[in-house]
Amino acid sequence: IASRLLAYFFKELNHDQVQKVDQYLYHMHLSDETLLDISKRFRKEIEKGLGSTTHPTAAVKMLPTFVRSTSDGTEHGEFLALDLGGTNFCMLWVKVTDNGLQKVEMENQIYAIPEDIMRGSDTELFDHIAEWLANFMDKLQIKDKKLPLGFTFSFPCRQTKLDESFLVSWTKGFKSSGVEGRDVVALIRKAIQRRGDFDIDIVAVVNDTVGTMMTCGYDDHNCEIGLIVGTGSNACYMEEMRHIDMVEGDEGQMCINMEWGAFGDDGSLNDIRTEFDQEIDMGSLNLGKQLFEKVISGMYMGELMRFILVKMAKEELPELLNTGHFETKDISDTEGEKDGIRKAREVLMWLGMDPTQEDCVATHQICQIVSTHSASLCTATLAAVLQRIKENKSEEQLRSTIGVDGSVYKKHPHFAKHLHKTVWRLVPDCYVCFLRSEDGSGKGAAMVTAVAYRLADQHRA
Ligand code: GLC
Repeated sequence: IASRLLAYFFKELNHDQVQKVDQYLYHMHLSDETLLDISKRFRKEIEKGLGSTTHPTAAVKMLPTFVRSTSDGTEHGEFLALDLGGTNFCMLWVKVTDNGLQKVEMENQIYAIPEDIMRGSDTELFDHIAEWLANFMDKLQIKDKKLPLGFTFSFPCRQTKLDESFLVSWTKGFKSSGVEGRDVVALIRKAIQRRGDFDIDIVAVVNDTVGTMMTCGYDDHNCEIGLIVGTGSNACYMEEMRHIDMVEGDEGQMCINMEWGAFGDDGSLNDIRTEFDQEIDMGSLNLGKQLFEKVISGMYMGELMRFILVKMAKEELPELLNTGHFETKDISDTEGEKDGIRKAREVLMWLGMDPTQEDCVATHQICQIVSTHSASLCTATLAAVLQRIKENKSEEQLRSTIGVDGSVYKKHPHFAKHLHKTVWRLVPDCYVCFLRSEDGSGKGAAMVTAVAYRLADQHRA
């Protein structure tokens, strides 16, 4: 196949499309001034989502989580955790012993979720979860115990208490029918009852951002933000109760699951969305929804890259027209310091090209533009959250820790560094520390459960 990506690109540069190419590259470069402007818009979204009159029409939903306290290090007991929300389903058994020095023991099991289960019926999905759980408990020989369980369910949910959580809408490629609008705790309980071979006590449902904040909070008590940049993207933070109109009471704090992936769903980011972002949205299962997430997260990054390459070499590279041919992992590999160019060559050859050195360098550069663009946008929203916390505390300078998880943040060679540097630049009056969550958000759900148990004990005493 005749393929000269860069040659084609240069040919284009001599023709009318030069402006188009310039335009999309230009759109993807965001200056600090633009980022601060986006950050300001996001501050308004935060306020809208929290206010009782503005909440119903707000794009960013700012959902109360009923998590009000992080670990104080005195929790103990045996807990189970489920984690549903990415490409894998994960189960966890956690034993927390409190004998002066708190120790956590863990066992886990991971399953890849088949696509037909992600998009089948509610009964299929929850029967599968119950079956996986039964197998896991069999393996650990704990089926006869009624253990407390925390459920990390990483989708927008309207919670009324810790153990009641109504799915607002599926995101990230899930589309199981009959679940939206229903309480996922009741759905699991029913699936377990249908089997009748074991019982569990579901104590808490948490978002993965909350799980991450809790896991990191166990090591660093300053941790008050949880951030995920993986398949999807979202953040949570500790907000003052007096500012949360949807929940009674003014004392203390509560963690808010922001669901920032929906930023822009009301059109507020239209000026920064590119033609590629629009194409991604059009090919998605949730048209017009999660627009910010579609611009930054791992589920869409590979596609974004592919759309750019298609634009540059449409006639020359028909293979690029097939979806799924460029994966987010390819972006990470192509940007690797040592053999990025070699990896770019491999990817392009796999696409049927016989790439020149210039083609590989160009691909490497486009990958950089795509991932930097994503990290920069994350920075804009994070800066808004930090400013918000700083104002809540009326502090001149804020010291804060952000717990982070997700494949893009953890696996991409430069994403994290770019994110850190830009945050420090955009909010110089905040001393921010980033803490990687090494144990996954499942452990966080177990921690929320452990904390809930400790608080219930104190209440009984
Ligand atoms: C999606 C979900 C959100 C989750 C995020 C990261 O945005 O709606 O709940 O936290 O993905 O997994």
